[in-house]
Amino acid sequence: MSTTSQFTERDVSEFFDRTTQTYLSFWDSEGVLHTGYFAGEDDTDYQAAADRTSDILADDAGIDASAHVLDVGCGCGNFLLRLAARTGCRGEGLDLSIERIRFAESRRAERGGGLDVSFRHGSATALPYADGTFTHVVSQDALFLVPEKPRSHAEMFRVLAPGGVLAFSDFLQPTERIGPAARRHVYDRVRWNGGYSLDGYRRALTEAGFVDVVARSLDAHIRQTYRVLGRTARQRAEGTADEAARTWILAFADSCDEIQAAIDRGEFGWGMFVARRPA
Ligand SMILES: C[S@@+](CC[C@H](N)C(=O)[O-])C[C@H]1O[C@@H](n2cnc3c(N)ncnc32)[C@H](O)[C@@H]1O
Repeated sequence: MSTTSQFTERDVSEFFDRTTQTYLSFWDSEGVLHTGYFAGEDDTDYQAAADRTSDILADDAGIDASAHVLDVGCGCGNFLLRLAARTGCRGEGLDLSIERIRFAESRRAERGGGLDVSFRHGSATALPYADGTFTHVVSQDALFLVPEKPRSHAEMFRVLAPGGVLAFSDFLQPTERIGPAARRHVYDRVRWNGGYSLDGYRRALTEAGFVDVVARSLDAHIRQTYRVLGRTARQRAEGTADEAARTWILAFADSCDEIQAAIDRGEFGWGMFVARRPA
């Protein structure tokens, strides 16, 4: 794992608190902030692709009405609200960003009638739940941001009941050496110190005690995500009157080009993982 940058949890929470409204304005007004699973290179429907990612993870995890689910790094709460509506499961969402938790709470109040879902501010490294609380722990594109990853793995293991399932998507650092462009546009931009390769992730989960670890590399989907989002950002920037917001969105669009180049150079990737706490 690369140790070039040293962002703390505070750096991460400040970034996501500060950028919540900007992301809502041009990325997704519902607050979805994860990688899409696209049908192919011609598919440009980000919303449908983002929902597909959620549904694939839910199906891989085997979530149904009997499940009690924790979404770690739940952001604005979309995955959990969708899961509960689709399957009838109970759920808790936890995120380091208080702004995102506020948004998730407002969405739950507006649209979550009848759903057994709640949201809480906190960190993956100190989960505020008793041992063995959940049948499933899920996460989308959030765990990469944790500076002390073995701690969050141990915490997710602890709060899962024996036999419980961990299912998540996450960003990958496929190679040790990261050039300056990728460091700036992929890693430092979102306060990410560095992460695992696909095999490194598999090993880390095994070391944390998980078994039956299945890891899938899905780089084409993250490339398509940033291709679509870069185009969308440039279009939205044209209609954004606020100068500071426009500058930020255009810088994001430039980063989208650099992110795709980083994927092509093997400096950035995306994967999906399913693992189990032994029964
Ligand atoms: C890319 S967003 C993904 C949000 C959400 N999962 C979604 O799919 O829309 C990453 C999220 O991880 C959260 N996060 C980062 N570090 C965290 C930590 N240590 N504990 C909990 N959440 C964290 C951020 O606040 C942010 O909301």
